[in-house]
This record gives sequence, structure tokens and C-alpha cells, in this order.
Amino acid sequence: MRVLITGATGFVGRAVCEAVVREGHSVRRMARGSRSHSLEPQNSAMEWVRGSVLCPNDLRQGMQGCDAVIHLVGIIGEIGDQTFERVHLEGTRRVLEAALTSGVRRMIHMSALGTRPEAASRYHQTKWAAEEAVRSSGLDWTVFRPSLIYGPGDGFVNLFARMSRWSPVLPVIGRGTSLLQPVSVDCVARAFARALDSKAAVHQTYDLCGPDRLNLPQVLQTLLRVTRRHRIILRIPRVLAWYPTAVLEQIFPLVLLCPAPLSRDQILMLEEDNIGNPEAADRDFQIPSIPFAKGVEDVLR
Ligand SMILES: NC(=O)c1ccc[n+]([C@@H]2O[C@H](COP(=O)([O-])OP(=O)(O)OC[C@H]3O[C@@H](n4cnc5c(N)ncnc54)[C@H](OP(=O)(O)O)[C@@H]3O)[C@@H](O)[C@H]2O)c1
Repeated sequence: MRVLITGATGFVGRAVCEAVVREGHSVRRMARGSRSHSLEPQNSAMEWVRGSVLCPNDLRQGMQGCDAVIHLVGIIGEIGDQTFERVHLEGTRRVLEAALTSGVRRMIHMSALGTRPEAASRYHQTKWAAEEAVRSSGLDWTVFRPSLIYGPGDGFVNLFARMSRWSPVLPVIGRGTSLLQPVSVDCVARAFARALDSKAAVHQTYDLCGPDRLNLPQVLQTLLRVTRRHRIILRIPRVLAWYPTAVLEQIFPLVLLCPAPLSRDQILMLEEDNIGNPEAADRDFQIPSIPFAKGVEDVLR
């Protein structure tokens, strides 16, 4: 198969491209080539096309001659016209329209655990609306909903690992009691790659999560155990973080031309459990069950 992969240059996209090639398919990578995500060729077996999922022409060009599309594009922070509504919902609608007009029937969609109609965060609300658009598209779709994804170059485990080098404290906003089920990026990539050929995966929505359910302080303690560091895990009451975060959300796009490293939407997400049932995906795509401590050790090594 020739597969168009949107968001191919991102943290998850790079791993998905490699896994898809390993399964014997060829890949056309698509992204805008922004400063933070370079379009430098990753592998000679991959072609690339510069474009935005908000631009129908770019998508039509990207889909030409393809048999399937893996749609990964998503954002965690907003900047300019890259809003949750535009990127998650409008971008997905444009991908679906381009697939329908280009005769690309197989579509694999990246969503997120926690999406639901009445979700608190706009990230989850717009991911839910995008899922609904995919499910009513008439295409041969599969939806994946991962929990927190970790791996080389992620923005979470690596961020805290870096912070623990110089900071005596690691912050946790709020009570820190909600649960995460971190999953390795290799497992996520394998699920996307294997779903391409799987008839059983058509019209299915899968959770992607690891075997361990941990709250944020436990995630950080695991990280500290693996790196053999001793740091204080400091709980910051939500109210103390909320207003400074609102200020950061304004300053970062204006001054540094990038989204703030933390948003109020993320604070809302951190306050709810992000757990699911990995059984169906583990069974259908033979995903290994990697304990978080083991996975983190491999990443940080
Ligand atoms: N990381 C996690 O823990 C996690 C968990 C659950 C779900 N997810 C979902 O997984 C997906 C990938 O996440 P990630 O962590 O890999 O994000 P990422 O590293 O920020 O990568 C985002 C990718 O999308 C591209 N992109 C952004 N806007 C675009 C646009 N308008 N048109 C075309 N390409 C665009 C970026 O390249 P350019 O900027 O160059 O365009 C980049 O290739 C997202 O949908 C995210 O919601 C992630």
C-alpha cells in the first residue's frame, strides 16, 4: 500500500512512518514544515509533501496515488489560526473530503483517550467531534485513542527528565490523584501500521494504553527511580497555577511565536483520569505489554 501520513514529522508521526515502512508499505509524509517539525528526509523509502490539512489542494495532491491515509495531525496548544476547532475538526473534515474525492477508502484516525461529548477541555471536545465526523464518513475507518504517549523526543517524560537534572523540585498541578496509563510510542506506531491491513480493525475504535495505571506523582517517582535522582515532588494548588497559565498563554504566542508550554486546557485534562482498556488493541495487533518503568528506562538510556 502507499500511505499518506499527515503529521508525519511529529513525535508520534516519526515512529508511525517507520513502523508502516517496516510492515512493507510505502509512505508519503505530510506536514507544513514548521520551525519545530523539520521535513528533512527520515528514510529514503519515504516521499514527502509539504502541506496543511487545512488546505484542500495540498490534501488532494498528497492523496494522489495513495491507498490509505493515516491522519495524525493534532495540537496541544493553540497559536494564531491553529485553534483546536480548526486543526482537529476542520482539518479532519478536509482530510475526509479529500479521501472521498481521491478514492482513498482506508482511513486511520488519531484521537485521544478522554474524548467524549461533554468533555471539560476543548482539546477533548474537538477530538470527539472529529471522531464523529470520521465515523459518519462512509470510509473504512479505524480510530485510535491513546493515553499519554512516551518515547524518544516526547514532550512529557523527556521534559520532566530534563527538569530533574537542574531543578530540586518537580511540580504537580492540583491534587495529582487522577490516573494515566502511559503507552510507548512504539506500541502506538505498531497498532497504526498493523491496522492498515486488518479487516477486523475496520469500523473499530481502540484504546491504546500501557499496563500500568499511575497518578502523576507516581509517574514522576518512576522517572526519578530510573534516573537515580532524588527530588521533591511539589503539589501546586490549581488556583495558583490557573491565572499565571492564562498569562503565559498570551505571552508565548506574541513574544516567542509558539504555544505556551502549559495551557488551562491541559490543567483541566490533568484533573481527570486518562485510562482505558488495552485488551482489544493488544489482541488485534499483537502489542507487547511494556511496564512503564521498563519503557522509561529504555527511552532515557
Ligand atoms: N503525545 C501524546 O502523548 C498524545 C496522546 C494522545 C494523542 N495524541 C495525538 O497524537 C497526534 C500526534 O501528536 P504528537 O505528540 O506527535 O504531536 P507533534 O509532535 O506536535 O506533531 C504534530 C504534527 O502535525 C503537523 N501539523 C501541525 N499542524 C498541521 C497542519 N495544519 N497541517 C499539516 N500538518 C500539521 C506537525 O508538523 P508542522 O508543524 O511542520 O506542520 C507535526 O508533524 C496528535 O493528534 C495528538 O493529539 C498525542
